[in-house]
Amino acid sequence: MTERLNADATGLARGAALLAAGELVAFPTETVYGLGGDARSDMAVARIFEAKGRPRFNPLIVHVATMEMAEQVAEFPKAARDLAQAFWPGPLTLVLPLKPGAGFSDLVTAGHETVAVRMPAHPVARALLTEFGGPLAAPSANPSGKVSPTTADHVIEGLDGRIAAVIDGGPCEVGVESTILSLGPPTLLRPGGLPIEALEEALGQKLASGGDAQKPNAPGQLTSHYAPGAAVRLEAATREPGEIWIGFDGNCDGAELSLSPNGDLVEAAASLFGALRAADRLAREAGATRIAVAPIPERGLGRAINDRLRRAAAPRG
Ligand code: TXA
Ligand code: MG
Repeated sequence: MTERLNADATGLARGAALLAAGELVAFPTETVYGLGGDARSDMAVARIFEAKGRPRFNPLIVHVATMEMAEQVAEFPKAARDLAQAFWPGPLTLVLPLKPGAGFSDLVTAGHETVAVRMPAHPVARALLTEFGGPLAAPSANPSGKVSPTTADHVIEGLDGRIAAVIDGGPCEVGVESTILSLGPPTLLRPGGLPIEALEEALGQKLASGGDAQKPNAPGQLTSHYAPGAAVRLEAATREPGEIWIGFDGNCDGAELSLSPNGDLVEAAASLFGALRAADRLAREAGATRIAVAPIPERGLGRAINDRLRRAAAPRG
């Protein structure tokens, strides 16, 4: 049985002690719940892959609380330092050269010479990292390929009995995973909670796109991902028979659910994964076989939402 811990001093102390013992503890971040393990422990990192059923070639993001911790993990060229200054703590992951002697389990980087680093903004994530006192490897806290968790209940639904504990910090505010960027030429590896427009403005240049489903070197780059049980149809302007319909903005009369009745993309991102889970439940209850989702504009957080929806709708492997 997975322990459910409160996000208070007692819960944080218990969580940090479990982590120090090489156990796995799920914790809230502003994007989604992460499945944390000591990034320096082979056993803890191996347990992460085991608990999620995650392919070993898919490397993990290392979470840090401070710039000092970040510098022990990775090299920061000037451009990276500027971005960290502008957007950390927050929903941005930087893929950087691994610091020699960083002391990670090789499983974290899947043998790459680079490491993905993120400084989360959520106060509970930050308090846990500080109390634990070291870097935490943390993928989203869901079985590999399934819908990411934005509440402690979602974590329990997917991983009960497979992990030591979850710290309940309430629902995640952003609701989609971090934006992943590699440097050299700045390249977008995954659209996410930090809008591309904000990054391009800070960099003063357009981002190259690194998305290639054949070469899954960033997260959701595997074809089918974020998949609910039911099939998914996108750009649905109406509901067809046998569908549960997820609407967006005003023009979706009769939709069972809505990502945002007012067409607010920030609200839509925050409700995305919860809505997919709720639609799946409704589909099971109603004997429906498909989830239809209204069109979402391709700007701001809409890009991350559409990215996750396309993967949820992709042919299942
Ligand atoms: O918001 C988030 O990023 C959440 C929370 C928990 O922080 N974490 C998350 O982790 O989404 P995950 O494991 O589901 O996605 C991380 C992705 C991996 O799939 C991997 O492909 C990519 O980051 N990644 C990790 N290390 C990399 C590297 N060295 N080079 C390129 N991509 C890397
Ligand atoms: Mg994930």
